[in-house]
Amino acid sequence: MKSALGCVFSALAASVSSSSLHALRQTPPQLDYNLLPRAACDNTNKSRSCWGNYSIDTNYYDETPDTGVTREYWLSVEEGDCAPDGYARQCQTINGTVPGPTIFADWGDSLIIHVTNNLKSNGTGIHWHGLRQSGSNIYDGVPGITQCAIAIGQSMTYRFKVSQYGSTWYHSHFSLQYANGVFGGMIFNGPATANYDEDLGHLFLSDWSHVDVFTRWFAARNGQPPALESGLINGTNKFDCSTSSTDPNCTGRGVKLTTVVEKGKKYRLRLVNAAVDGVFQFSIDKHKLKVIAADLVPIKPYSTSSLKLTEGQRYDIIFHANQAVDNYWVRAGWLNACQPNVNPDSITSVLRYNASSTLDPTSTSDVTVSSDCLDEPLASLVPHLKMDVTNIQKSFDTYLNISTTNYVHWTINTSSLLIDWNNPTLKQVFNGESLFPTDYNVLAINKTTTDDEWIVLVIQDQSNLGLEHPIHLHGHDFWILDQSTGTFDAATSPQSFKTKNPPRRDVAALPGNGYLAIAFMPDNPGAWLCHCHIAWHASEGLSLEFLEREADIQADVSDSDRTQFNDICQTWSDNVGTQAFPQEDSGI
Ligand code: C2O
Repeated sequence: MKSALGCVFSALAASVSSSSLHALRQTPPQLDYNLLPRAACDNTNKSRSCWGNYSIDTNYYDETPDTGVTREYWLSVEEGDCAPDGYARQCQTINGTVPGPTIFADWGDSLIIHVTNNLKSNGTGIHWHGLRQSGSNIYDGVPGITQCAIAIGQSMTYRFKVSQYGSTWYHSHFSLQYANGVFGGMIFNGPATANYDEDLGHLFLSDWSHVDVFTRWFAARNGQPPALESGLINGTNKFDCSTSSTDPNCTGRGVKLTTVVEKGKKYRLRLVNAAVDGVFQFSIDKHKLKVIAADLVPIKPYSTSSLKLTEGQRYDIIFHANQAVDNYWVRAGWLNACQPNVNPDSITSVLRYNASSTLDPTSTSDVTVSSDCLDEPLASLVPHLKMDVTNIQKSFDTYLNISTTNYVHWTINTSSLLIDWNNPTLKQVFNGESLFPTDYNVLAINKTTTDDEWIVLVIQDQSNLGLEHPIHLHGHDFWILDQSTGTFDAATSPQSFKTKNPPRRDVAALPGNGYLAIAFMPDNPGAWLCHCHIAWHASEGLSLEFLEREADIQADVSDSDRTQFNDICQTWSDNVGTQAFPQEDSGI
């Protein structure tokens, strides 16, 4: 409310001439805030913190505008020839492009998204990464958890409210499918913590395989995952064919993304790490980056010359085009120390001040290459909307290990995730089953009082491999209490938890051989996956699932939601013999 009033008063000050100011002070006007035009607090390049009757100060966990607007999108999951970097192969895509179309909405809109499976041999399901999906767990899009896989020829309609704002992405959650190209961006317009002139949209950073990713699974699961050949920025790059001139698939016709800017302007970019397996240290030669959001959480702006992103993470940045009119390299900055790529330095795009230039940049980087695969320092990621962790009700202390029975399986408390696309957790909930299969790795959270209560998850890496894991939780932002290279001690370690406005987001790195401690509020009934966002590791079962307030789940499900849910499951099971793709991994 405070913020809405702030906007109203500044609008009045602007629109009332000085001669009438005196009168205004004597009789405060009775305003119906809901009827004020958007101009009362317009979001412009000088007032990005404004948002109509809401603002960057609004507690978006409690309050969502109701725009009354519903936006509808149609996504086709399909396959076909592609050569995003100039190397021809078969891809799986949304609507024929990598990345797929961006889904735009305003904070407070409703979305209806129709997804059709037009593939030849896979099921599918689309997950809207980072969305809390309050009251809409059934549309979280994870085959085997919140729905059955969508069969070939079948469509499913996802419906949910946009209660957050900022930058995120959607991707298939059917095994390794997104690594073949099934992903795209989501932009939810809303306030921001710093001003800028223009929004350049997403910059997807990804690694890229020259053969279908599913065929590499059999090698990947035996240990060290394969080094992929290439990488893309917004689905394009130029692969160097000079050393593979006899390979007919190497066309050499790839192009680098070009972004044109006007000197003096400030630009917003929405970075996403969409890699299968790899950490980026992003930079733009000679330009500083002002970071304004970490995942879907606006933060106090900070300035840096490079920015590390682990898999699944997003950062919104602003850069000022204040350098000499020239061409500059934009560097995704693949960290080969985290996971080898055949061409780690080639993942670049071009920034031009002069649109008519066709020259490659000659700029050099002054960034020091990071020697670790961890997140940005926690001290940099200060949420603008301050929230503390209080009243911890329950701590789940878990242990990550590795087992090599048949092939590499990651285990959490000795169990590796394995789900059945035909038997999602929600189906078991609807059937009133009280015991879940062990390999669904279910941790039950039942809220006991009406007070604010917090759940803590600690994951201690005991595998002794020294590998970082980007841990992602569905259905929540989480508060990062600790990210440590040490050994967790249930008696003493919680004393050093950071509970005063710690960074919050939806993906955070678990340090190799160390532990990650995160907190969240059990306010969202549903089955929520919590997994490593390295695609190979998710396939190797590095996941658990929270079953949150099971007793309240069904109340959120309408009859039509339920009819569609049953229909998707029925079609999948009817066709399982004829068209199903054999499940060779955990399923997620
Ligand atoms: Cu990007 Cu389970 O999600």
